Amino acid sequence: MEPVGAKIAIVGAGAVGTSIAYAALIRGVARTVALMDVNERKVAAEVLDLQHGLEYVPRATVLGSADPQVCADADVVVFTAGAKQKPGQSRLELAEATIELTRTALPPIVDAAPHARYVMVTNPVDVVTYAALRFTGLPRRQLFGSGTVLDSSRLRFLLSEHCGVAVQNVHAYIAGEHGDTEIPLWTSATIGGVPLLDWSPLPGRPALDAAARDRIRDDVVGSAYRIIEGKGATNYAIGLAAVRIVEALLDDEHRVLPVSSLIDDDAVGLSDVCLSLPTVVDAAGAGRRLPITLSDDERAGLRASAQTLARMQRRFGL
Ligand code: LAC
Repeated sequence: MEPVGAKIAIVGAGAVGTSIAYAALIRGVARTVALMDVNERKVAAEVLDLQHGLEYVPRATVLGSADPQVCADADVVVFTAGAKQKPGQSRLELAEATIELTRTALPPIVDAAPHARYVMVTNPVDVVTYAALRFTGLPRRQLFGSGTVLDSSRLRFLLSEHCGVAVQNVHAYIAGEHGDTEIPLWTSATIGGVPLLDWSPLPGRPALDAAARDRIRDDVVGSAYRIIEGKGATNYAIGLAAVRIVEALLDDEHRVLPVSSLIDDDAVGLSDVCLSLPTVVDAAGAGRRLPITLSDDERAGLRASAQTLARMQRRFGL
């Protein structure tokens, strides 16, 4: 009898949700991939399209339905349902619509999959994660957000290009809000084991001075706006980033990822908000946050990010 593998359920069969499903199949992370969307025609078509490629990926079953029961007994639920950013629109401007959608959509799914780990992707992901914790009563470890995992991979890509070093050798995090107030953690970043702030350019490569770091930070923050302007949405990189998180959960990796979780202590002079800090992600979910070294500027930037998010929480009565 073949062991029954993991099941992941993806809520929302839009560009992001289907990219997550596609990436999960290609990487063979789960034996069953379930898609849920209130638009029955859409989800049925997406499921068919994915099923027709099953010959080319590690063995998997693809299910789909408008019924939350399709998420039953999932090991991981990835929540992507919600409005998408319009060109020039900030993620925080989506808050009212997506908080209300989360309030109604999430509880029936938790009833169907009470033991799943929940990864919120819907934007504004930090406020939506905080709201989802409120609406479901799930512990902070079991429900968290994709946070700045994608922003950090954007940062690593840009640093890799600037310095002429493979992206896998760049260890740097974006922290705080997944949004306009996010901040790079330069102090703790390393390139090939060399502290980033001590980096000397390789021959023919530009310096990584303060001006270059500011440009890179602005490029990271502006990335989604630029992509949305050009193609209407971002989906591939967030799909891959979300699947990275799913793999860390399913494989109990103890992988350090900047996911968005409830800050319920005074670690960085803030609490009762969800934002991203380097966190150990294992089978149980979002675990211990690493005691990273922060400069005064980084600490101030995190506090400003938290204050922005706390204001949004209060504005929507969370
Ligand atoms: C982005 C979306 C996922 O940053 O917020 O591309």
